[in-house]
Amino acid sequence: MKDRQEPGDLQELGDVPIAEFRKQLHELADWIADYREKIGERPISRNVQPGEILSQLDRDAPEIGTPFEKIFPDINRVIVPGIAHWAHPQFMSYFGCTTTNPGILAEIITGALNVNAMTWRTAPAATELETLVLDWLRQWLQLPNEFTGVVYDTASISTMHALATAREQIAPNTRKLGLSGRDLPRFRIYTSDQAHSSIEKGAIALGIGEDNVQRVPSDAEFRLEVAALRAMVERDVAEKFKPLAVVATVGTTSTANVDPVPEIAKICREHKMWLHIDGAYGAGLALLPECKSITAGWNEADSIVVNPHKMLFVPLDFSALYMRDIGRLRRLFTLAPEYVHLRDPDKTEINYMDYGVQLGRRFRALKAWVVWRAFGREGIAARIRDHLRLANLLVDWIKADKRFELAAPVVMPVVCFRFVAADKDKIDILNSEIVERINASGRGYITQTKLRGRTVMRIGLGNILTTEQHLRNVWQLIQRTAGEIASRAARPESASK
Ligand SMILES: Cc1ncc(COP(=O)(O)O)c(C=O)c1O
Repeated sequence: MKDRQEPGDLQELGDVPIAEFRKQLHELADWIADYREKIGERPISRNVQPGEILSQLDRDAPEIGTPFEKIFPDINRVIVPGIAHWAHPQFMSYFGCTTTNPGILAEIITGALNVNAMTWRTAPAATELETLVLDWLRQWLQLPNEFTGVVYDTASISTMHALATAREQIAPNTRKLGLSGRDLPRFRIYTSDQAHSSIEKGAIALGIGEDNVQRVPSDAEFRLEVAALRAMVERDVAEKFKPLAVVATVGTTSTANVDPVPEIAKICREHKMWLHIDGAYGAGLALLPECKSITAGWNEADSIVVNPHKMLFVPLDFSALYMRDIGRLRRLFTLAPEYVHLRDPDKTEINYMDYGVQLGRRFRALKAWVVWRAFGREGIAARIRDHLRLANLLVDWIKADKRFELAAPVVMPVVCFRFVAADKDKIDILNSEIVERINASGRGYITQTKLRGRTVMRIGLGNILTTEQHLRNVWQLIQRTAGEIASRAARPESASK
């Protein structure tokens, strides 16, 4: 390709020449390996202001082509410094980041193949690999044989499809007739006050309505209160609402605790409600034999979602939805237009497009297959076990520093804690400020959340590169920052501001 094309030049047709591409790939391979090797030396993020990235980029849509050699410097100059580096070992926000080297290799191959895994015929290996990895994961989660899965992008989409199936069960023919203009009761979905907002999003998308997601209070350890659930369902029944489903969480977003699934399942059975388990984050812990207790009651569920991109080292995005009777989901969404050209007289082909709203589908199974083969269940479990060890170590450090207190029990590699050595009315604001300052420093990245109205700091460990030293670095940064902020806050002049 010419170094620079001019408007009106005769455009070369076809792809970028292969020799050029090969050279770029080799250089990119080194760039990726360097990025992974030295990621700990980078600032996790810079204090980027909204619009700052755009202001550094050419806003005119490209009329003529530019060689990759000229595009790549912009990636290094603007894009790379303009993101928070989730793969940095001191990035401890949300649920960590589970990028891995084998996962990156698989993503490169997926990009090269660029198949559309909508039907078996369009991508036989992608379809069958999806079936295979879903079965591996099902076994690792110890779900009974009758559970069958499908891969989507995110847990929000998985949960929406589970709730759509639950809705079709309770209001048959909604697929054909819709909800409006029919004599239907108001449906209710129950989930704890600690559950993820994706439940409301699903209710919004499905015409059930956000207000019909009833938030059940949680107990002192942030688990759904069963007695409160029972009372809410009974009150709704008396008031002619129709209880539709309960979403129990295994690994809640703020504190990563586990709802009492067996007791919830009992109420679901009594009231013929669908039981969906949101194990987006926490279900992965089932790979550790010593954590088997978290699977209690799963075999009574109608559906369960797990995001291997949250704990199981598969790069974003990969969400697996399992359903006890996946035929319900298939019957709800199968709609094969002529142009998709399905010919399967024996009905042996699995066409994953039949299991949801999406037609076109990425080949996500490859990265799971590569990563899980690269580490094996033992290797994955050992790494999660180490994240748990680190979380418990952090608990010890927090307990040893009287200026801090633990804000929730630690069940998974997620720790919520709070700086308390200040006037009561300043504590929330100080905790927020500590988080902001840590994140602005570029040397740590943590989250804040609210528990019972109080602001707490939250550390999630899940990055494959995070070591004890990285955690120690972040903890010392928190201690130092908290000390500085608290002494400034205690000065009389700042009190008057
Ligand atoms: C418990 C839980 N469920 C669902 C979600 C939504 O996940 P996704 O981003 O895959 O939609 C999250 C996100 O953190 C979560 O913590």
